[in-house]
Amino acid sequence: ETAPLIDPFARAISYLRVSVTDRCDFRCVYCMAENMTFLPKKELLTLEELDRMCSTFIDLGVKKLRITGGEPLVRRDIMTFFRAMSRHLESGALSELTVTTNGSQLARFANDLYAAGVRRINVSLDTLDEAKFARVTRWGRLPQVLRGIDAAQAAGLRVKINTVALKDFNEDELFTLTEWCASREMDLTFIEVMPMGDLGGEDRIGQYWSLKELKSELAQRYTLSELAHRTGGPARYSRIEETGQQIGFITPLTHNFCESCNRVRLTCTGELFMCLGQEDNADLRGPLRAHPDTNAPLQDAIRAAIARKPKGHDFDYSRQQADGQVSRHMSHTGG
Ligand code: GTP
Ligand code: 5AD
Ligand code: SF4
Repeated sequence: ETAPLIDPFARAISYLRVSVTDRCDFRCVYCMAENMTFLPKKELLTLEELDRMCSTFIDLGVKKLRITGGEPLVRRDIMTFFRAMSRHLESGALSELTVTTNGSQLARFANDLYAAGVRRINVSLDTLDEAKFARVTRWGRLPQVLRGIDAAQAAGLRVKINTVALKDFNEDELFTLTEWCASREMDLTFIEVMPMGDLGGEDRIGQYWSLKELKSELAQRYTLSELAHRTGGPARYSRIEETGQQIGFITPLTHNFCESCNRVRLTCTGELFMCLGQEDNADLRGPLRAHPDTNAPLQDAIRAAIARKPKGHDFDYSRQQADGQVSRHMSHTGG
């Protein structure tokens, strides 16, 4: 039998995040530049190649797949891929198939996602104010996303909201967002903004709002109880006793959670990034395309890549801007 994927720091890799497209119908200021050049189609893995890639990871012990982008639901015919992956849920090889989305296409796809075996989705939403939403996403429209969230809940999908904490932007909506999520029985996770992408005119450091501060503001209004650290994910969770809701905190800057990292990231061109905060990556498209009839070389390439997984990221706002920063855009690896 095949041995599981274990990295040099004895971390088992059981979670694959797959970016199925570099495109997005939004242009969030912390994620993409306004004028992005997108990849030519021939660079992309086909849906069949994505299937083979993911299935090989599953053969090597990956239990959880999260589909990301860009915006995953703008890739043409993406439901064919979700439906194909559902066979791994049915066989029990895969325990969870999920998606992280901006919500713009959910009204169209919520039922299909549920039918393919998706049960939980993460939707990115930084503000409930229409004008601010248009500003932060540049191209997005809030009502469309809210309709998408409604459709997802109506379809039976459990929704978690991801909110990037941005100083002078959504500080004033901390309680509004929290209570809106509580009233809809949605969990909420706050994320510290990470220094990725060419910052251009953007002042990522000025935007930075530490979750230490955010959490102490929450603690002034509500009774927070810490929940046991759930294995694997980067989020730490607290419960708000007054609402019963669970709040997640993803704190790459104030608390490095890399020691329990269980994940790697595949891009839509078949690069494998072993860490979100590092540039090192391995080409898997080469071995995939060179050997259409056997997965052994691809498996070898995956094992060799995992053997290079670094200890953690170097994000750091306390040093000079250029230091703890990764020039790749967040959309390249889907967060
Ligand atoms: P679960 O699968 O439920 O644990 O979801 P998640 O919170 O890991 O996934 P999601 O796609 O919602 O990611 C939320 C945010 O967490 C994104 O901004 C990611 O960039 C960030 N994130 C996820 N995993 C990592 C990680 O390993 N390192 C860092 N630095 N950030 C991460
Ligand atoms: N820092 C933190 N989170 C980010 N995301 C995108 N760019 C950044 C960044 N620079 C988040 C999105 C989404 C997830 C996929 O990544 O808001 O929730
Ligand atoms: Fe698109 Fe998500 Fe990036 Fe915003 S954060 S530009 S919605 S991929």
